[in-house]
Amino acid sequence: MQDIPAILGADGPFAALIPGFAPRLQQQELAEAVAATLAGHEVFIAEAGTGTGKTFAYLVPALLSGQKVIISTGTKNLQDQLFHKDLPLVRKALAVSVDVALLKGRANYLCLHRMESALAEGRFRSRGEVAQLGVIERWSAQTRSGDIAELTELNEDAPLWSHVTSTADNCLGTECGRLDDCFLVKARRRAQEADVLVVNHHLLFADMALRDEGFGELLPGANAFILDEAHQLPETASNFFGISLGGNQLLELARDAIVEDLREAGESSGVRQAAERLEKAVREMRLAFGVEAHRGPWHEAGRLAAGVQGMGEMAEGMAERGAGRERGGGRGEGGGRASWQGRATGWGWGVNVVCAVGSAAVPARSGAAI
Ligand SMILES: Nc1ncnc2c1ncn2[C@@H]1O[C@H](COP(=O)(O)OP(=O)(O)OP(=O)(O)O)[C@@H](O)[C@H]1O
Ligand SMILES: [Mg+2]
Repeated sequence: MQDIPAILGADGPFAALIPGFAPRLQQQELAEAVAATLAGHEVFIAEAGTGTGKTFAYLVPALLSGQKVIISTGTKNLQDQLFHKDLPLVRKALAVSVDVALLKGRANYLCLHRMESALAEGRFRSRGEVAQLGVIERWSAQTRSGDIAELTELNEDAPLWSHVTSTADNCLGTECGRLDDCFLVKARRRAQEADVLVVNHHLLFADMALRDEGFGELLPGANAFILDEAHQLPETASNFFGISLGGNQLLELARDAIVEDLREAGESSGVRQAAERLEKAVREMRLAFGVEAHRGPWHEAGRLAAGVQGMGEMAEGMAERGAGRERGGGRGEGGGRASWQGRATGWGWGVNVVCAVGSAAVPARSGAAI
């Protein structure tokens, strides 16, 4: 293994390249720990104060590792800074010819086919947009990456971009006449070939979600992942893997349960009590949350969690009774049987949602992703 502290030391290449560079023990220790982690194929979580120099501390071992490494960071801006500023500097300092690539989500790349269609159709909302499209067209002939962040003249949230970038739905894929020049295809190909690939957390989780659902993948495989700005991961992960269930849905569930119970089982089944407990818990939860958005682990939801769990068990019981009745043949009541079947299916949906939340499926999945 290379002498990493020396590389980041007073007589190392960084000191020679960067004015004001001074050896920092924390940075050297972090770099050594990252190197050991990569060599041992282990998992390592590190926290160090802002300005410690964490970027060099993970880039140096990553570039020296000889492995395929995917580095993910919090935002596209940080991605650009890493790729255009830090990585070239570290490559130069280490004098290594590691192949590096940058990959963003589809919406960040100009789609030549859609730009040409927009030019041909000529339907614009304003003269400003016509001028903007002219700027994009001129840039399209010069850019190598097609990354819309390059065109600083035009704001990244300009509405026109949605007309000249693609989505998974409107992309013509292999049918496209501009496939050979497609910036997204080229960026994905470079990502496949590169030794070190820079992505963002959003893309990383979009890739995980696709793999999870068995719908393919956005990123190549890698020997190691380095996740910078890791404090942002829970937020991004819950956007991709979380399940949302609102108070209104729960109240509706409780009300439906009471109506259903009165019709089918009478007072004795316990469903009514469970539904009322759930209603109470939802109201208490709303008061406890206040108007501010609030986030926390499921087990902290306390009484609401217990209420949902209890309701789930009751609902399961109801669904089972429904199925039992169904198997019993409905005693010749054709119409009655059909309507019960409909309700039983409705309950099936209710049970799925309640059990998914009640059995803590949400935190477990996010936890695994983090
Ligand atoms: N040993 C060093 N001596 C002097 N400057 C350094 C050293 N290491 C890194 N730097 C510089 O310090 C600045 C901050 O480094 P870096 O962005 O890696 O910090 P960080 O630890 O990732 O902080 P943050 O938590 O804010 O992301 C950069 O401009 C970098 O070039
Ligand atoms: Mg940093």
